[in-house]
Amino acid sequence: MGTESRVAMITGAAVGIGRASAILMAQRGDRLVLVDVDGERLALLAQELSDYTAEVLTFVCDVSDEDAIKAVVAQAQERFGAIDILINNAALWRVWQPFVEMSSATWRRYLEVNVMGTVYCTQAVLPRMLERGWGRIVNVASVAGVYGNANMANYSATKGAVIAFTKALAKEVADRGVLVNAVSPGSVSPSEERDIDAYIPSELAFIGRTGTDRENAELICFLASDKASYISGQNIQIDGCRKKQ
Ligand SMILES: NC(=O)c1ccc[n+]([C@@H]2O[C@H](COP(=O)([O-])OP(=O)(O)OC[C@H]3O[C@@H](n4cnc5c(N)ncnc54)[C@H](O)[C@@H]3O)[C@@H](O)[C@H]2O)c1
Repeated sequence: MGTESRVAMITGAAVGIGRASAILMAQRGDRLVLVDVDGERLALLAQELSDYTAEVLTFVCDVSDEDAIKAVVAQAQERFGAIDILINNAALWRVWQPFVEMSSATWRRYLEVNVMGTVYCTQAVLPRMLERGWGRIVNVASVAGVYGNANMANYSATKGAVIAFTKALAKEVADRGVLVNAVSPGSVSPSEERDIDAYIPSELAFIGRTGTDRENAELICFLASDKASYISGQNIQIDGCRKKQ
């Protein structure tokens, strides 16, 4: 395949890194399949993307609902023929709790969304990628999955699982044209911020600030392109040279 417009599915697309990835991919002409549980913000993004010519489908869907994800992928494939790029970005992370206080229900919910959501979306798109001999999967993990964050044992465990899943799957499919990588952001600018270039000071990075949504999206877009043709099974940290591990 050449460098024609691709079809990219992005989960958790409504805000933050997912939204910035959608904007950059629309700018480069990719057709988009955007999935989020937040229908209101997803509709706002679809409105923003109407400035570009790229065709956009939006689905209000929970990635932990396997049947719903299968239905989304079936509809998207019906419309576009195939999904070439999958960005597994949807995740839960905003709970800080000592391990001894964390309920097993919270653990299960994090595993369902962060790990099984990634698995369900990957299972749904991978067969067609393998058939066509081209695919890019980018899993958004976290430095928490590498170093472990105190009071985020559940989140850290799910992101560690996503990184290991990435490395294992990459080995199974590399010789069939499907490349699978993870990116691990450090501290990112607050995702409620609409300006994708916004940042705030951060003592966690030697660079001295948070990473912007655009910086994260640029890395994701590169990995999800023809240019990234010899990288697979990697977890790339994008953390401003993180200080505290
Ligand atoms: N923001 C950070 O500092 C940071 C740091 C490291 C890693 N990350 C990772 O980056 C990714 C994006 O984070 P962010 O902070 O940009 O966005 P966010 O966490 O603010 O928003 C994520 C989006 O995912 C959606 N979402 C949540 N659960 C969902 C579900 N079950 N099904 C479908 N959609 C769902 C939300 O509605 C939201 O629009 C996540 O995987 C996160 O773990 C973020």
